[in-house]
Amino acid sequence: MSYVRNAWYVAGWSHELAKEIPLALSILGERIVVWRSASGTLNALEDRCIHRLAPLSLGRCEGEGLRCMYHGLLFNREGRVVEIPGQESIPPKAHVRRYPVVDRHSWTWIWMGDEDKADENLIPSAVGLDHPDYILGHGHLDYAAEARLINDNLLDFSHLTFVHANSFGAGPQFAETQARITPLDRGIRYERWIENTLGSSSRKSDVPMDSFMTYDFLIPGILLMTGGVFPLGTASAFEHGPPDLSKAVSGVTFTSQAVTPMRDKNARYFFSWGPRYDQGDADVRDRLMGIAAQAFAEDKEMIEAQQRVIDDTADAQIMPTTHDRGVTLFNRLVDKLARQEEGISKQAA
Ligand code: FES
Repeated sequence: MSYVRNAWYVAGWSHELAKEIPLALSILGERIVVWRSASGTLNALEDRCIHRLAPLSLGRCEGEGLRCMYHGLLFNREGRVVEIPGQESIPPKAHVRRYPVVDRHSWTWIWMGDEDKADENLIPSAVGLDHPDYILGHGHLDYAAEARLINDNLLDFSHLTFVHANSFGAGPQFAETQARITPLDRGIRYERWIENTLGSSSRKSDVPMDSFMTYDFLIPGILLMTGGVFPLGTASAFEHGPPDLSKAVSGVTFTSQAVTPMRDKNARYFFSWGPRYDQGDADVRDRLMGIAAQAFAEDKEMIEAQQRVIDDTADAQIMPTTHDRGVTLFNRLVDKLARQEEGISKQAA
């Protein structure tokens, strides 16, 4: 399975990147150093000194630049060496790769593809921690598994019935009935009504109601989900299409999630979740985060075990079911975009 390179990948939570403390990370197997200068500018370079390959992430921030602390080469924020201690001339090849990097919606995003194609309009519209309408908790989880397995999990919610019966209290409907899946330019949209329900652990109700949930799952692996609880009969009234969320009587929350492939079989999963301000407070947020912690641990246990089985299986094949429609559409889109990128780079070579 390949990954799209011309996309913005989440590198971390913006507020966790302190000024002048370089951060080492890997995305798509590439070592990257990210740092925020004293003046606040955000920078990302290949984390490999051009001299003897020491990690620049062990370096020292100087002004807008970063000095390798092995033999002291100084790199500017474009990745170009601007000083070699004890040497006057600087070879033209003395530079490392620079990555476009931007803070948006409380995340730091890195563009992994061609620099001249970096388009900030392609950053998915996540809901940041400072959004005025929501009170959000947040976190991240590391997986010993390929990112694509986490994407597959998030694209097929029929697993909620089985993996999350305890945490989310998900009923049989997730497995027994089909969600509505719609292709988007850079992903898929998932929409589902659960009618005549007393809700789940995150959306409890004393009387039977109709519950709606929807998410977009976007390149490279970003999930943006909301929903709410409505009076009985609302699903029929809207012909099982999307309702007006401002009319929800309870349970309106938002979760933004991002799956970042780090190395071959390692991924980082970022998430936030919480209620809309008019439907919950910090206590509700904390209760939701407790449910999320249990649920995401359930996913991690299953997906890491799945990865171990795949690793032990020669010529591993899958057998899709009807619930895999979203998975199949998304993975086909990834393959198509990755093939286009490969074709373009071959033409350019
Ligand atoms: Fe960086 Fe020598 S390895 S200066």
